[in-house]
Amino acid sequence: MARPLIAGNWKMNLRLSEAISLAEAVRREAEKADGPDLLLCPPFPFLAAVGEALRGSRVALGAQTLHPEPKGAYTGEVAGEMLAEVGCRFAIVGHSERRQHFREDNAAVAARVRAAHRARLAALVCVGETLPEREEGRTLEVVERQAGAALEAHPSDVASVTVAYEPVWAIGTGRIATVEQAAEAHQAIRRLVRETRPSARDVRVLYGGSVTPDTAPALLAHPEVDGALVGGASLKADSFLAIVRAVPKARLGRSA
Ligand code: PGA
Repeated sequence: MARPLIAGNWKMNLRLSEAISLAEAVRREAEKADGPDLLLCPPFPFLAAVGEALRGSRVALGAQTLHPEPKGAYTGEVAGEMLAEVGCRFAIVGHSERRQHFREDNAAVAARVRAAHRARLAALVCVGETLPEREEGRTLEVVERQAGAALEAHPSDVASVTVAYEPVWAIGTGRIATVEQAAEAHQAIRRLVRETRPSARDVRVLYGGSVTPDTAPALLAHPEVDGALVGGASLKADSFLAIVRAVPKARLGRSA
């Protein structure tokens, strides 16, 4: 079983001073107790300062997206190589907000997964169905298609794979998947990883979508759930750290 990961996706939120205080609070928690692996994904302009606040700690830095090309005339975009240079170890890829507002389809997601690997960043791939897709009984079909496209873009000898199952209807809505709904999707994703990337020994399937200190304990207690990708509740130290502390001690035995 992989060591759990709790990741904060700050999206387009916070002031710089708030971002640094939050990073420092997470860093203090990481120093204090044996806990899950931790990842913070600030907006681009805050990456370097937050990276500085986290330097030497076991809290990893991640970007919220990246451009598929390593450099060039792409005004406004940021390359994986640049993110690695400012200390990122992860990049979120395929978040539903990118798919919806920036028209990133499965091919665009796959291109970003390739770009992340080229820049030696771990891709945190997000997949998830919309409410109409769930109501039509197409959840697993959608999740498998999205995860399949992203997995094919991972190198065939990849050692670790991180996927977040985030039902679109649960993101920022206060509605949350039941533990059974999450476990079913997680199982399907894990099966697909095993089939398509058998070299991956460290496979983490996170849950995301309205995770709060109240909803986290039941989700994180399920053996199919290897952690959480947290949006709204990651913007305040007390709620994020309450989620971090909700990871059952029994899951913390081994390092990934
Ligand atoms: P939320 O966002 O926790 O605010 O629902 C999760 C995400 O979008 O990753």
